[in-house]
Amino acid sequence: MLDAPEIVLGIETSCDETAAAVLKNGRELLSNIIASQVDIHAEFGGIVPEIASRKHVEAIDFVVKRALKEAGITLEKVSGIAVTQGPGLVGSLVVGLSYAKACAFSSEKPITGVNHIHAHLMACFLPNGQIPRFPFVGLVVSGGHTSLYRVDDYFHVELLGATRDDAAGEAFDKVAKILGLPYPGGPIISRLAEKGRRDAFSFPRAWLPETPYDFSFSGLKTAVLQTVGKLTSAGQKIPVEDVCASFEEAVVEVLTEKTIKAAVAQEVGWVVAAGGVASNLRLRHALREACMEKGLGFVVPPPVFCTDNAAMVALAGFHQLSQNMLLAPDADVYSRIVA
Ligand code: KG4
Ligand code: ZN
Repeated sequence: MLDAPEIVLGIETSCDETAAAVLKNGRELLSNIIASQVDIHAEFGGIVPEIASRKHVEAIDFVVKRALKEAGITLEKVSGIAVTQGPGLVGSLVVGLSYAKACAFSSEKPITGVNHIHAHLMACFLPNGQIPRFPFVGLVVSGGHTSLYRVDDYFHVELLGATRDDAAGEAFDKVAKILGLPYPGGPIISRLAEKGRRDAFSFPRAWLPETPYDFSFSGLKTAVLQTVGKLTSAGQKIPVEDVCASFEEAVVEVLTEKTIKAAVAQEVGWVVAAGGVASNLRLRHALREACMEKGLGFVVPPPVFCTDNAAMVALAGFHQLSQNMLLAPDADVYSRIVA
């Protein structure tokens, strides 16, 4: 075991947030800057990769400098740099990786490449009261991923199952589009769902008994599309709040039931939720209740650590740097999950 790095600078550019954070001793968050591009992509109804990478180029230098300034340090005081290497949009990842490499090279600091999904799983260790104990089952639900993991420690993360088609966040975004609601769909759908009836429509749940930890949301999305199509052709008004509530209930029920099933089968004591969709209040509530019923501990980070951020990257990087897991100078980004 090597000396733990005292100060880690985290950099995240995998999707549509340019983010940088400074973490002290793996516990104390000195700064956490997030520049979201969501308003720009909202005009197009979803993320436009080419625009995302250009916006990262424009923002990265400012965001990193701001994170250092807010932390009251300079690059020279940083012990190591952690950067998201993948998975994500290649053009976006390249911006963060190149910038981080340049910082590391010019300041002669060690640098480590972080798996974005692992970083989401590690967000539960960011300063926020309760932390889980290993081993735990982690549900990562974001715009690009819906996966269940068994997490034995900071480095041993085993995939139990994943989505076969749309990610949960993607389903929220697509259903929002069907209903004429703005991107990103998650926050607006969950707001409207609060006023709707959750049993108004019986949308399908894909249980996939052969592979119980896998997910599928494309059938659900199609069912919403057909329902809206039928109502429209019949000249009826779309009960948007009821559709949102019934759709959200179907997603939450599947995510909760499969997560608890995995936790029980894996004989772990804790469940962790992470990723943008984990900021959904209904999902947080359902998971908490279900865990309590089974005597499982449950941790979900506050919403700001659920959606993309660099604090989680710094935290995952802190542990990697402690183990001297360094990025090769010629290391490239990766678009898909490699572990
Ligand atoms: O983790 P994240 O910020 O970015 C990715 O790595 O994808 O997740 C973004 C996704 C979007 O699809 C968005 O619609 C969804 O998270 N999301 C939500 C909520 N807030 C964000 N989904 C459901 N309910 C929410 N409150
Ligand atoms: Zn993410």
